[in-house]
Amino acid sequence: MISRALSARSRGIANIILNRLNAPLHIANKLASVRALQKFARQGVITMKVLVVGGGGREHALCWKLKRSASVSEVICAPGNPGIAREARCIAVAAEDIDGLMQLAREEQPALVVVGPEAPLVKGLADRLRSEGFAVYGPDQAAAELEGNKAFSKALMAEAGVPTARFETHTDADAAEACIRAWGAPIVVKASGLAAGKGVIVAQSVEEAVNAARDMLSGNAFGAAGAQVVIEECLVGEEASCLFIVSGDTILPLDSSQDHKALLDGDKGPNTGGMGAYSPAPCVTPEIADTVLETIARPIIAALKARGIEFIGTLYAGVMLTGDGPKTLEFNVRFGDPECQPLMSRLRSDLGEVLLAAAEKRPHGITLDWDPRPALCVVVASDGYPGSFEKGQRIGGLDAVEAAGTTVFHAGTAEKDGAIVNAGGRVLGVTALADSVADARRTVYRALEQLDWPGGFYRTDIGYRAIAREEA
Ligand code: AMP
Ligand code: GLY
Repeated sequence: MISRALSARSRGIANIILNRLNAPLHIANKLASVRALQKFARQGVITMKVLVVGGGGREHALCWKLKRSASVSEVICAPGNPGIAREARCIAVAAEDIDGLMQLAREEQPALVVVGPEAPLVKGLADRLRSEGFAVYGPDQAAAELEGNKAFSKALMAEAGVPTARFETHTDADAAEACIRAWGAPIVVKASGLAAGKGVIVAQSVEEAVNAARDMLSGNAFGAAGAQVVIEECLVGEEASCLFIVSGDTILPLDSSQDHKALLDGDKGPNTGGMGAYSPAPCVTPEIADTVLETIARPIIAALKARGIEFIGTLYAGVMLTGDGPKTLEFNVRFGDPECQPLMSRLRSDLGEVLLAAAEKRPHGITLDWDPRPALCVVVASDGYPGSFEKGQRIGGLDAVEAAGTTVFHAGTAEKDGAIVNAGGRVLGVTALADSVADARRTVYRALEQLDWPGGFYRTDIGYRAIAREEA
């Protein structure tokens, strides 16, 4: 930790505590010292060490922003990736290795832990960290069910009166089929559990929907995640991602964003985790943002609270802007990926301060200041994604892509013999900030001409809706 220019006396005390932390102390004394340091961090006397859990594009964007936060002296990331290694000390503990992460936190004593992906949250990482006195940004297991269990999430929406598509949940294939045949197509079939953004089939025919439901319920498609399915009415409209920093009763909207979930140009092909995103999304007018806050975010957080469940972390409402107003497609309990990349590119506030304040339930510390310029991110994926693909292909030209005015956030990359290679489906998030969405897109696609990776592909129309609006 580095001292910041405040009173020499406070700095002196902070340094004494820091030295004590390095001594072989009883765990309770260590924790008391960490708390005292957190207080100094809040006062700006000292800066803090932050542990980020995860190793994708979202976590790269979070680490990138934390590294640029005055409140943060050191970022460590588990497991990270070669891009994150430019911003953080990466430690090879997997994001779902809860015991390993607990051990790491005990050794490193971060002042704040930021959990990037949903899987460790659903497994209860935040609960365990909190039980040992760590400040955590990310919800407990019970609140993470909002994402980890779509059947629970829909039931809670119904209970809270949150606008969403009509639905039924089924564990029996014949009952699911009867529902699909009664409602007709188009119709949506979802695996209730976690499926990395791929467990949703928007079926254009009854047969396709029946096959999808049977595949899921038999365990073929998504294993245990498909043991229960949600059948939904198909909503029509433009989609937007509305994210909130939630800290108990405080719910603070982030600026809007829009993701492109379909694999191919023109929103064709299967759903993916997201092939590109931009922020802000002009379809989310201030009125719509307010409606989403009041009719979706507040009631769902209140419904959790009524069940004794407190939420600390990011609430992500995926909404469809229908003729009847915004309706909820899904809730996630973490930043969107790739939405996080343009959002962090635009955020001016000290992210470390904001997330620590949220983790400690100090609402006055949670203020967000945005660069008014839009940012846009194009995802480069491995040929074959979301199906299978060949790993270990060398990716060249990354420096030239950045030199052309972009930030390259790494997702599924690895290092092999000194070169960057692909190691996942979504591999890079090439992001630019500019005076218009059209300019940001031009910058990104020009920069991508420098990319030397024949086995990668990307959509060529990211931002098309916003650009059509700009042109109108
Ligand atoms: P989800 O993971 O539930 O957000 O679903 C992934 C994607 O599937 C969404 O972003 C939508 O594009 C689509 N989708 C999900 N539910 C519906 C629905 N009820 N009607 C139309 N499209 C949907
Ligand atoms: N980009 C969609 C998600 O993060 O769920």
